[in-house]
Amino acid sequence: MKTEFNILLVESIHPVARERLEEEGFKVDILNYSPSEEELISLLPKYQALGIRSKTQITENILKHSQHLLAIGAFCIGTNQVELRESRKKAVPVFNAPHSNTRSVAELVIAEMICLSRQLTDRSMKAHLGDWDKTATGSHEVRGKTLGIVGYGHIGSQVSILAESLGLRVLFYDVVKKLPLGNAKHMHTLEELLNKSDFVTLHVPEAPENINMITAKELKQMKKGSYLINASRGTVVDIDALAESLKSGHTAGAAIDVFPVEPASNKEKFKTHLQGLTNVILTPHIGGSTEEAQKAIGEEVAESFRRFLKNGSTSGAVNFPNVDLPTKKETSRIMNVHQNKPGVLSEINAIVSGTGANIEGQYLSTDEEIGYLVIDVNSSVAAKEIASSINKLSTSIKTRVVY
Ligand code: NAI
Repeated sequence: MKTEFNILLVESIHPVARERLEEEGFKVDILNYSPSEEELISLLPKYQALGIRSKTQITENILKHSQHLLAIGAFCIGTNQVELRESRKKAVPVFNAPHSNTRSVAELVIAEMICLSRQLTDRSMKAHLGDWDKTATGSHEVRGKTLGIVGYGHIGSQVSILAESLGLRVLFYDVVKKLPLGNAKHMHTLEELLNKSDFVTLHVPEAPENINMITAKELKQMKKGSYLINASRGTVVDIDALAESLKSGHTAGAAIDVFPVEPASNKEKFKTHLQGLTNVILTPHIGGSTEEAQKAIGEEVAESFRRFLKNGSTSGAVNFPNVDLPTKKETSRIMNVHQNKPGVLSEINAIVSGTGANIEGQYLSTDEEIGYLVIDVNSSVAAKEIASSINKLSTSIKTRVVY
């Protein structure tokens, strides 16, 4: 069964998303700005899927007026611009691209290690100002030094591989057991890692337990003359304590990309106690900001749309039970989202057996509020009848024949 899907992409999403979606036969319309709530409410009845970036707010009101909307794609990392709970209740999975920019962060960290150990940004600044400061004192190669990675996830592990290829020894600390890549060594405590590293780079998520992970105490646990890099979240480091440690000479340099308070836009002024300190690289949260990352985000979310609309897979959805499904050529597929109440599944199965169709496959994933059910049956005619009957159940939220 062929269904035509119309997709609206707003906020100048990378053109690769449109290309990929059109290759799949979807009809795509583009708006190069962030539409208001009112405009979206009037536009959305034409579309089954909506792609946004971080500015467009998807409110409860928008979702209330978009009953037929099947999916939302946040072509970015964060999803707090979307009313996630309400979209789940309306059976609208929300997809994002959490890992598309991780390589960009890893490369920045590697660049910063070399810049810090050669005092590159200070030397460059002086040369711009006409000062010729040629000296080897305090400049080092990174080869043979020890890098300590805190948080060995998508970014930390990539930093590990890249750093080893430059000849660094790599140590890591993670609260979850992780497979060490290459020759990297797992440290049992943060303190052990801090004691042994010439560079410490932080790649932990924003979480209450990670607020002020690095304070004056941890800075003291680091070697004298070592460097700190933070491109994770601003709240992880106590900035005032870092400023003191830099001023005292205990910390030889720092590269900080994220701050406890960051300007909301490029128009706002930015202030931190790290400004003006020697061998400190300050960047405006650009770790993941590359054109390659934008393209990768476009590809990743377009792929999530394809997999959900054409196949019913919800893997990667941030607000929805995740189901990763095989495509079955000889069957028809029905997807149903229902309220997670006792007895729903047996009612649905009774409907299917009433049509005489054979169930070729069934996949169910639930959370505390909803259930996501996918049924493969052997007849496309029965599939339509089944979907229409399931839709009439009082517990059903959304049902469609996928193919
Ligand atoms: P991830 O979820 O793949 O890895 C995070 C790792 O940290 C996990 O292995 C986790 O077990 C570990 N962890 C959590 N708490 C810990 C603790 N207290 N001590 C040690 N390990 C701990 O995340 P990913 O993709 O590697 O991202 C890491 C951070 O980078 C996130 O905070 C993310 O927001 C930030 N980020 C920053 C960007 C920028 O532009 N600067 C761009 C992309 C991500």
